[in-house]
Amino acid sequence: MKSSGYPKSGKASSVIILAVESSCDDTSAAVMKDRRILSNVVASQSVHEKYGGVVPELASRAHQQNIVPVIHQALAEAKITKSMLSAVAFTQGPGLLGALLVGSSFVKSLAYGLNVPLLAVNHMQAHILAHFIEPPEPAFPFLCLTVSGGHTQIVLVKGPLEMEILGETRDDAVGEAFDKSAKLLGLPYPGGPHIDRLAAAGDPERFSFSRTEMPALDYSFSGIKTAFLNFLRKEEQRQPDFVEQNLPDICAGLQRSLIDMLMEKLVQAARQCDIREIAIAGGVSANSALRERLQQEARQRGWQVHIPRFEYCTDNAAMIAMAAHFKLQAGYVEGLQVDTDARLRFSP
Ligand code: KG4
Ligand code: ZN
Repeated sequence: MKSSGYPKSGKASSVIILAVESSCDDTSAAVMKDRRILSNVVASQSVHEKYGGVVPELASRAHQQNIVPVIHQALAEAKITKSMLSAVAFTQGPGLLGALLVGSSFVKSLAYGLNVPLLAVNHMQAHILAHFIEPPEPAFPFLCLTVSGGHTQIVLVKGPLEMEILGETRDDAVGEAFDKSAKLLGLPYPGGPHIDRLAAAGDPERFSFSRTEMPALDYSFSGIKTAFLNFLRKEEQRQPDFVEQNLPDICAGLQRSLIDMLMEKLVQAARQCDIREIAIAGGVSANSALRERLQQEARQRGWQVHIPRFEYCTDNAAMIAMAAHFKLQAGYVEGLQVDTDARLRFSP
């Protein structure tokens, strides 16, 4: 909702925003003062490890337990009291509905109690705007490959609040493909970082996995997961300890196949849009082989590549604060009736 509600006059001249992120399995709170992050506290939930994936109800309960201490810590680290806040922000979606509701209800009550503007932030937009937390900032227009446990998108970013999805996954996200494959290998959740670590000692050329071709700039990662499962079954029939004996090569081959898929469409998008300013966001951007490959493409194609610091790649509230800053500046403020939306799409 657009209004003329930029920070209430009469308060401090600085703009201080408290933001909360609770869309999946990390409870996070951050304080931003005049576009500078003063604190960014993240409580990760270990309760899901033994289930091999995020259990939505357990995530909601853990958010409820974490939200007060996490906000207190963020305020304390920033040396800011609640009465100094100019605005509060929460993740509206996309994400797990119950998890989103914990953050939104809490932040709405803060907005009401403190009588400050309320901002609702799109989680995917925030991942992209994380690039503006620290220099060097990407120049508009740029392309952002957003790769996480829940999403895989190529986004054309024309301005802070003007984004267009050019392509996205039709089924699993690439992080999910990493995690589900890791589970088949008996690795702990989340498996992406384990595959990354093991792949470092493996031969990426020994095994490769067939994939589904998708039209235009879209992705599909469910086919490669099935191909991987069938490959393991077949090899284990021949040699029961196949995984144990070949783990680094298996991980390196899988990782290379997934990165090839990501890069093929990204290169295509860059060519189509004639854009060389390329950014990457989301948890999977922590992958060392993906980072290396991006740098390699950058050298070959004259790309300017932007990768945020790791703590701003994974889910965090600093990126929610950054997005809230841009929304507040543009005059967007929400009423208390604003709803969370588990399937939220881009809109200004
Ligand atoms: O953005 P994020 O923290 O949360 C979501 O919004 O999903 O991303 C989490 C995803 C998980 O799938 C995790 O396995 C993956 O990021 N991930 C990695 C690496 N680090 C995290 N995948 C591959 N290699 C990594 N080094
Ligand atoms: Zn995320």
